[in-house]
Amino acid sequence: MASSTPLTDKQAPIVIVGAGIFGLSSAIHLAQRGFANVTVFDRQPYWQTQYDFDSGCDAASAALPDCNKIIRAAYGHEVWYQNLTLEAIEQWEAWNLDLAQGRDLPPGMTTKDRIYVNCGNYHLGDEPGLNPFEKLSVENLTKAGKGHTQYILTDPAEVERAKKDGYGYAIDPFHLAKEGKYSGYLDAIGGFVYADKACRYAQHKAHRLGVKFVLDKTAGQFEGFLQEEGGKVVGIKTKDGKSHPAALTIVACGGWTPSLLPEMDGLCETTAGSVAMIQIPADSPLRQRFSPENFPVWQYKVRAGADGNLYGFPLDERNVMKLGYRGTKYTNPQRDAQGKERSVPITRWTTPSIDNKLPQKSVEVIRKFLDTYLPELREHGINISNTRLCWYTDSFDNHFVIDFVPSRPGVFVATGGSGHAFKFLPVIGRFVADRVEGREEEDIMRFWRWRQLAPGQKPYNEIMKGRSSPTALQNVRMSEERDLVLSDMSYRSRL
Ligand SMILES: *[C@@H]1O[C@H](CO)[C@@H](O)[C@H](O)[C@H]1NC(C)=O
Ligand SMILES: *[C@@H]1O[C@H](CO)[C@@H](O)[C@H](O)[C@H]1NC(C)=O
Ligand SMILES: *[C@@H]1O[C@H](CO)[C@@H](O)[C@H](O)[C@H]1NC(C)=O
Repeated sequence: MASSTPLTDKQAPIVIVGAGIFGLSSAIHLAQRGFANVTVFDRQPYWQTQYDFDSGCDAASAALPDCNKIIRAAYGHEVWYQNLTLEAIEQWEAWNLDLAQGRDLPPGMTTKDRIYVNCGNYHLGDEPGLNPFEKLSVENLTKAGKGHTQYILTDPAEVERAKKDGYGYAIDPFHLAKEGKYSGYLDAIGGFVYADKACRYAQHKAHRLGVKFVLDKTAGQFEGFLQEEGGKVVGIKTKDGKSHPAALTIVACGGWTPSLLPEMDGLCETTAGSVAMIQIPADSPLRQRFSPENFPVWQYKVRAGADGNLYGFPLDERNVMKLGYRGTKYTNPQRDAQGKERSVPITRWTTPSIDNKLPQKSVEVIRKFLDTYLPELREHGINISNTRLCWYTDSFDNHFVIDFVPSRPGVFVATGGSGHAFKFLPVIGRFVADRVEGREEEDIMRFWRWRQLAPGQKPYNEIMKGRSSPTALQNVRMSEERDLVLSDMSYRSRL
């Protein structure tokens, strides 16, 4: 089929649209395979902003607003992702080591910077023991020889083992233990990566490998495909009026991908999770308490629907603690020029008035969690300092999409992160390169093919519900300023 003709000419120009994780990783791996003419386009001036949200950067899948990204290998029965995470962690560690040893430091970074922090993942649910997903994760990690990294804290012997292994700080982050009885489960694999540093490092790496970058709000901004008669895509046009011929155009635009490629309708949709940020003041003892040395990444009722699916991080280097809520995912369906509805991201650039507000439901769930599990925030008079919607792309089956686009010869897509792709930044481009080159593929690639919901197939993520959906932002009540103040009520006593 012409649409999936492998590219073998290493001198052929390749255009990548999007400098987020899929674009950066593709660029690195293609360059490592010897492709000598790879150019990445993005409308964001990342050379200047360095992927930093406070400097004006916004990227649905790339760096922010969800500045830290969880690294976890616990994947239930999905052992293929578990294995790939373990491989990615080796790379994250190698990148940390490169930084520590001062090998090819990206501009502005020092040997003191680290990208990956192995502080562990603490899981807490409603029941004292493991939920079915966690149980499978522990079993399959054990099969992979990682059993010693898993601590089921309802077992006092496991608590002792965790303490002995140096994880005493992570066995009870919410101070729930009573009379020596602990709750939850600690997965000592992983922790988090600093998203901005990870992207800066990857961009620098790609640059050193000879990848060209056009990062500019006009010269880097995708305007349309260059098409031959018959529809074959032979490059892109950018907003400055220039044409950039390419043998292959890789679209990796995170939440913007479905707007650029309407063919993705039904396969992927742009959705938003909710993020809250809590700035801990300089004189507060909570800075110690929530530092990554003393506090792990946590996940709360991960598969429990609208009142669960919260996760959070220790303090970042700016002493901001972040937590996220994905129990309700929101969409922003808008009509395109053809009258078709499609969700598009909202950022401070598209809609300044809404960007830092959250739906009321999100704030309620987050507040209740904080009131219940971290009441010391309220006791220290600390409120939620900022909130934000975090736009990314869900596929209907929660798998990525890494493939040629069947109806657009010359176009390839790498997207559909579904909220779990960032951790694979160092390795995901390998699969892009395999597919582009037509190499024999690893088994995991079958999940990432271009696909459609089969008749009768139940989607993992219900997407494309349009403007009538109760979670379309048009139908959702947004929070008010006062909602960000933590309540006086103590839920804690009810535990
Ligand atoms: C995962 O890795 C283990 C070895 O660590 C291997 O035995 C197993 O076949 C792998 N599973 C998958 C699905 O890749
Ligand atoms: C994961 O563990 C479950 C439970 O032990 C088992 O049924 C399943 O086969 C495992 N998956 C793989 C790929 O080993
Ligand atoms: C949190 O909100 C309460 C109530 O409005 C206020 O009294 C308090 O000063 C706020 N704390 C901070 C740190 O802003």
